[in-house]
Amino acid sequence: RKMRKKIVAGNWKMNMNLQDGVALAKEINEALVADKPNCDVIICTPFIHLASVAQVLDSKVVGLGAENCADKAKGAFTGEVSAEMVKSTGAQYVILGHSERRQYYGETAEILKEKVELALANGLKVIFCCGETLEEREAEKQNEVVKAELEGSVFHLSAEAWKNIILAYEPIWAIGTGKTATSDQAEEMLAYIRSIVAEKYGNEAAEETSILYGGSCKASNAPELFAKPNIDGGLIGGASLKAADFKGIIDAWK
Ligand code: G3P
Repeated sequence: RKMRKKIVAGNWKMNMNLQDGVALAKEINEALVADKPNCDVIICTPFIHLASVAQVLDSKVVGLGAENCADKAKGAFTGEVSAEMVKSTGAQYVILGHSERRQYYGETAEILKEKVELALANGLKVIFCCGETLEEREAEKQNEVVKAELEGSVFHLSAEAWKNIILAYEPIWAIGTGKTATSDQAEEMLAYIRSIVAEKYGNEAAEETSILYGGSCKASNAPELFAKPNIDGGLIGGASLKAADFKGIIDAWK
């Protein structure tokens, strides 16, 4: 149906110790090797899991990503993990711009721009998140907020670099709240996002850009969301922490 890549990506956030995380990755991998998905599947884990999880994934079936990377290339930045380090674990992706990073760790558009640059320079694909707060939606400012987030951190990229960007719209009021955006609300925003990508990079590039929805997406609502013409998949938090739940969402593409 859709020519562009369909994707289901998990974002484990700060969950799972190393042993539990590796066990979960193994379980997901086994389930998907046995029953091939009809979309790209990516799991994004805390930094400490990456190298071990990479060992248990069949990279042709399940991609691997980090949830963040540093805004500096290398050096005296105690506690930070660079894009180059992420890449060296075998990961192919990194989530950047998640609202939790913006909200709790003060990541500004400027910082995110640096992170995006470094991630791409190191050969990672970026899952770039955007989304408005409840207040902003109630004030009908969601389009301008999302546009500003994209303009501030990714719309400076060249057309060539853009090919390595996956967008994820996560309305903050729907994250971990059990309150999903309706499929119409999600579709409306993703269509808007695609229109501004088209303005910037042209229709063809916009048609090829995968745009995901995130926020209380689960097996029960994924089929309705994924049926929408502009929704190319999901970025999944809570429901990515159990193999059966995650597989249920992946199967929505069948
Ligand atoms: O990045 C995924 C996310 O923020 C959605 O979380 O738990 O609502 O699926 P959740």
